[in-house]
Amino acid sequence: MIHYGLKGVTAAETRISFIDGAEGKLIYRGYDISEVSKRTFEEAAYLLWYGEWPDAEQLLMLKGKLQKGRELPGHVASLLKSLPREMDLMSVLRTAVSALGSGPPSIEEAIRLTAVVPVMIACRKAWMDNSVLPDSVNHLDHAEHFLYMLFGSMPTETQRRALETYMILTMEHGMNASAFSARVTASTLSDIHSAVTSAIGTMKGPLHGGAPSEVLSFLAEAAESSDMEELIRQKVCRGERLMGFGHRVYKTRDPRAEALKAVLLSEAGDDDWMKLSLKVEEASINILSELKPGRALYTNVEFYAAAIMKSMNMKADLFTPVFTAARITGWTAHILEQEGNNILFRPDAQYVGPWRVPNGHSSQQK
Ligand code: ACO
Repeated sequence: MIHYGLKGVTAAETRISFIDGAEGKLIYRGYDISEVSKRTFEEAAYLLWYGEWPDAEQLLMLKGKLQKGRELPGHVASLLKSLPREMDLMSVLRTAVSALGSGPPSIEEAIRLTAVVPVMIACRKAWMDNSVLPDSVNHLDHAEHFLYMLFGSMPTETQRRALETYMILTMEHGMNASAFSARVTASTLSDIHSAVTSAIGTMKGPLHGGAPSEVLSFLAEAAESSDMEELIRQKVCRGERLMGFGHRVYKTRDPRAEALKAVLLSEAGDDDWMKLSLKVEEASINILSELKPGRALYTNVEFYAAAIMKSMNMKADLFTPVFTAARITGWTAHILEQEGNNILFRPDAQYVGPWRVPNGHSSQQK
């Protein structure tokens, strides 16, 4: 029997997170996401890496390491400014992370990677905008520092909290495609930088982390259309995917989308963009339930991620890199877990090509 796309296949044990796709539940290290998302980025990251909430001293230690890890090595800064301007930010990030080194998996390196990726994104953005990368401000926490480096000014409390909540909600999600990529690479006993580089390449695709910018195009198209419902109906009839809808695991509402929507409604309920998002969500769910009965297609986290990033004036090319900056926490937790109980990932494939060898066939695979 072939499990196409490994759907429904359990390939490892994990203590990092649990997803109940039928009930719409997401648990990090035993704690419900609704509880985790009220904490800070640093606390949630500590929980994923160490398995417990930090005490005050441990939190201070982690903050110190994250601040130290922000330093961008000179050769990586030069690389970020030398790659062709037309190269997309995810490809730039993939190349820059690879250039960072090739160390063995460790929590220290996980912290450094998590700290430095936002600075890489900001550095490339500054160069593309012909502006100067602001000097790092040490005392700022992770999410606040990220926004400061991106825009060169202090974010409002609402913006800081919106980004922090988004990053906590998206930092981990079980054996998703990019975490799986990271684990496959780690399972060969390769280094942590190679494993994260694999994950970034996987994250880039529009069926995974590339969705938020496509959501933005979808919303813009809906805004311009004279008949939004007809536009959506036509898309589904043509076999197009509505970006920001559906999920491999959730067959009910995605709890992360619900949490982000709640943040947005409390902070930006009157915003035109938010109103449009709500209208598109409602129309799409109705049309999907009519044209794709029994598929249980609702908004996924990327739908409201697009709205949240738009509310922070982020351009679409930053969406997937920001998602990456959050998800690197989960990837590195998976790489460490894989290393702790390693078995090489190596599934089989059924050969369906022609036989051109004498004496029948050989099923030998290497
Ligand atoms: N729009 C329209 N139809 C859809 C959508 C969608 N967004 N998602 C699934 N379907 C339909 C499919 O056409 C298919 O219909 P059929 O049975 O009539 O052929 C059925 O639902 C099942 O689709 P699958 O591709 O088998 O479902 P799967 O679980 O593999 O897909 C996926 C999950 C890839 C996320 C899909 O829902 C999709 O393409 N969504 C749009 C892209 C997106 O938003 N990606 C972000 C995901 S969240 C994340 O990665 C963090």
